[in-house]
Amino acid sequence: MNARDRLPDAAQLAWRAQRVRQATLAMLAGLSAEDCLLQSMPEASPVKWHVAHVTWFFETFVLEPREPGFRPYDASFRELFNSYYVGVGARHPRGQRGLLSRPPLERVLGYQETVLQRLLDWLERGAADPQALALIELGLQHEQQHQELIATDLKHHFWHNPALPAWRPAREGAREDPGALTFRRYPAELAQAGHDGEGFAFDNESPRHRVWLEAFELAQRPVVNAEYLAFVEDGGYERPELWLSDGWDACRREGWQAPLYWLRQDGGWHTYTCAGLRPLNGAEPVCHVSYYEAEAYARWAGARLPSELEWEHAARQAGGVQDGDFAESGHFHPRPLEPGHSAFFGSVWEWTQSAYLPYPGFAPAAGAVGEYNGKFMINQMVLRGGSCATPASHIRPSYRNFFWPAARWQFSGIRLAR
Ligand code: AVJ
Ligand code: FE
Repeated sequence: MNARDRLPDAAQLAWRAQRVRQATLAMLAGLSAEDCLLQSMPEASPVKWHVAHVTWFFETFVLEPREPGFRPYDASFRELFNSYYVGVGARHPRGQRGLLSRPPLERVLGYQETVLQRLLDWLERGAADPQALALIELGLQHEQQHQELIATDLKHHFWHNPALPAWRPAREGAREDPGALTFRRYPAELAQAGHDGEGFAFDNESPRHRVWLEAFELAQRPVVNAEYLAFVEDGGYERPELWLSDGWDACRREGWQAPLYWLRQDGGWHTYTCAGLRPLNGAEPVCHVSYYEAEAYARWAGARLPSELEWEHAARQAGGVQDGDFAESGHFHPRPLEPGHSAFFGSVWEWTQSAYLPYPGFAPAAGAVGEYNGKFMINQMVLRGGSCATPASHIRPSYRNFFWPAARWQFSGIRLAR
């Protein structure tokens, strides 16, 4: 236990709020105001909007109902930076965030600095009740989620520039050999699933409950590019019998021939990374595949995707997150896998075959903040384990990420089960 863990909650949160903000600001290094306004598709927001929105969350959910004599930093921001909270009121349309040249970036940075300072002052006055402290914690976790989204969205924006800009340093390093793919057997068991009560978790990780798992086998590392390339070269994208019906429709409609960010050039495969276009490294986990591609690959490989609770059960036995590949490295690209590295945490999010649904007895929080996770429990699939763009302090075995099955712009990969 380090010194910070022994501080009272309010002081510890104040300290962490400053660290999290530093990490958000670090995302902006080397970016221009023009870069920060790009929006390549409705699902991918401008960097500037993300920064404003995480500030909006604290202003709206923590300060507005509690700060004595509260006055909004700018009354227009309530609508501009409301993402999807119907209970808060009107929202600027998601697909039009890239049209917001005003407020300028400097004003958004001022907004962030001012709201953080007001939050710290208010905390220091000792006014925070446990509910307020819990909302601040939620706000910090929320900001970390948006740090990852800044990386994934910016990569997608830059992909639309034919110059394929580099915005992060390349990782020096040898091509490693991940070793043969091995499976481990997990015997049938009545397992515990969900948040165990230690530390923070989102509402969608609760209640903890029992789940009966039949015996299964799980790959001890994610699928790597060399393996996925064999699927591509075996006509994986041309063979409807390997695909779910909706997946095949998406594949044809979108013209998929390989994962997002793969480019065939000068006779070889390359992949766009945050450090620019690089030759495809066979030892890196395959990344930027949709659920549909992950599912088709698994069928081609004679396997399947794990359920989210099989994954969680195995990940709890795999040790912690310490040796993972996370946002702190600053590369936002998965490292080549080394033999023996199971990479349950970090590296790439792993698609599961589980629909994103409430656990038995799930209840969202009261009020607008209850819209955070619960209302999305339809038509999305669960991903587990975090990625190279996830902050290390943000992930845990019970963490449930979720996206639509056709989504490819997250750092999403594949772990096989059978
Ligand atoms: C869990 C990543 C799907 O992108 O909307 C951000 C995270 N929730 N603000 C999303 C989130 C509220 C969420 N995902
Ligand atoms: Fe958000």
